[in-house]
Amino acid sequence: MFLSIDTRFIDGVGFDRFMNLQSATDVFSQWALIGKDEGMERGHAPSVKAMLELALPQVKNDFSAIDLGCGNGWVTRMLSELGASHSEGVDGALEMISKAKDIDSANLYSHGLLPEWKPNRRFDLVHTMEFLYYLEDPVKMISIIHDQWLESGGILVAGVDHYLEHEESLTWPEHVGVHMTTMSIAQWTDAMEKAGFTNIEIHQVAAKDDFPGTLVVLGRSSRVQDHTV
Ligand SMILES: C[S@@+](CC[C@H](N)C(=O)[O-])C[C@H]1O[C@@H](n2cnc3c(N)ncnc32)[C@H](O)[C@@H]1O
Repeated sequence: MFLSIDTRFIDGVGFDRFMNLQSATDVFSQWALIGKDEGMERGHAPSVKAMLELALPQVKNDFSAIDLGCGNGWVTRMLSELGASHSEGVDGALEMISKAKDIDSANLYSHGLLPEWKPNRRFDLVHTMEFLYYLEDPVKMISIIHDQWLESGGILVAGVDHYLEHEESLTWPEHVGVHMTTMSIAQWTDAMEKAGFTNIEIHQVAAKDDFPGTLVVLGRSSRVQDHTV
């Protein structure tokens, strides 16, 4: 049973402390240990399929890719099968990465906490599904992806199911017991614009019954090519 509290006078950080929230990466490490990553993979697959159908026609054939918050690595493996010349994944949950490495020794999986963890190369495609809102500052992460992770002209495709207009998702932080940053569709769009993305697309994919769909933001990096050798 949930404690009934008046949250009107508690700010975001105070609320998290008050609720004694766990870190998302600890929770998802537990999920990997009890096999809940596989249900999550099945649940997210229709949205990821739609996201890749939007993104892949916009990258070159032998694209390089990374999946942020990659969980057990299923999208990293899928991107490799779909023609990526280099595919890797990063996740802060140790047990997720350990599972990814057990399944697949061909692609690269890193255990790292974002936004601090940095890749050692740039990518033509950055994919991320159901990860960004676990961060305190998803807007900053979107800027970092644009400035530091993407090749010039590279594509970011990001999907989130927790957003302001998806009313049912607003109770998830309390139910799951982890911090989630709630942003509206306009705020996600604004974050892409402020980061410098061009050709921005906003979609709601895989909608079903009462589910308004995964909110997908997609954009092309406007970063000018660095010609230093
Ligand atoms: C909802 S799961 C999604 C996993 C995967 N993208 C999928 O669709 O199956 C969110 C993932 O983000 C990871 N995550 C959350 N916060 C993180 C952080 N600060 N740094 C790195 N990974 C994080 C979690 O460990 C978890 O595996």
